[in-house]
Amino acid sequence: MPFLIVRNDITKMNVDAIVNAANNSLLGGGGVDGAIHRAAGPQLLRECRTLHGCETGDARITKGYNLPAKYVIHTVGPVWNGGSHNEKVLLTSCYRKSLELAKAYKCETVAFPLISAGVYGYPKDKALRVAIDTISEFLTDNDMLVYIVIFDKQSFKISEKLVADIRQFIDDRYVDEHYIETAERRRIFKKIKNIASDEDFEGCSSVAEPLTDDITVCLPSRPLDAYIKELDESFSEMLLRKISEKGMKDSQCYKKANIDRKLFSKIKNDKLYKPSKPTAIAFAIALELSLSETKELLEKAGFALSHSSVFDIIIEYFIRNKNYNVFDINDALFQFDQPLLGC
Ligand code: APR
Repeated sequence: MPFLIVRNDITKMNVDAIVNAANNSLLGGGGVDGAIHRAAGPQLLRECRTLHGCETGDARITKGYNLPAKYVIHTVGPVWNGGSHNEKVLLTSCYRKSLELAKAYKCETVAFPLISAGVYGYPKDKALRVAIDTISEFLTDNDMLVYIVIFDKQSFKISEKLVADIRQFIDDRYVDEHYIETAERRRIFKKIKNIASDEDFEGCSSVAEPLTDDITVCLPSRPLDAYIKELDESFSEMLLRKISEKGMKDSQCYKKANIDRKLFSKIKNDKLYKPSKPTAIAFAIALELSLSETKELLEKAGFALSHSSVFDIIIEYFIRNKNYNVFDINDALFQFDQPLLGC
């Protein structure tokens, strides 16, 4: 994943460089600026004094001192003034100049706060958009692991109505692990019953119907290679088929899914490759698959959308509502304290 959105305190991030949302004096302040100076210790201020300030939209680099990060890149974002005073250009420049400095100092990992989205009043969703667009553009030609560190829930805008809708959707579906297991075992048994004839079950203990909790599902005794021959389309084959059915290029799909090129080529070249569940879901969202197609793709990677997982139920909610916007989905996941897509 070349780009992650995480919930954390940026001063705790163990990366090569963290970015500070500073002011023109570079002599410290409140918010993330204050937090970074407190965590780095007084030497940071001493070095900042030697820089003699920084223009809005520009960036400077210092050591990290007591921080886990090796460097601090100080950038000065624009104060929001309604949006018609070059704010977007200046904010874009903050990310770009910081990334260029990080590259010049051979940083492999960098963490950004949401610059200007606090005291400087830049609307958080617009600030997040600028951050994502500028970082994504930089990463098309550069190899670096970049984090956007979200410190508080207000950074994600989501309507109360949407939160209520999703909460209801979860309540209607959430079941605990125990019941889902029984239902799952019932489904597996029925599936085996469909593909196996009675003599296949010779020697198996009879399984009571209706299936009770102590189900022992016995696999039919057909030779293993009979099953292997029946292996249907793999995850990789279905993914590539869906990409071409959707008229997408490979690169369009894996970039939209926020999956790095190396991982994609691994999946493409190894027919039996099994990705992680978040990766499989990210592809389903990028391809805008229906719920049944998503379940089919996940199943080929060995997963299911489980109603004992709030994360899965939220994904199901957005797919049922045909909303494949990763930012909207991440807004919701963030509000329900779930890991974010593209993370
Ligand atoms: N880790 C990560 N993010 C943080 C942290 C933290 N420890 N503390 C605050 N943030 C987030 C805020 O929630 C906000 O989303 O950083 C974002 C930027 O907020 P500010 O720190 O207020 O920065 P900004 O809006 O750019 O204003 C800069 O504030 O602190 C002063 O000296 C600074 O004058 C400058 C101005």
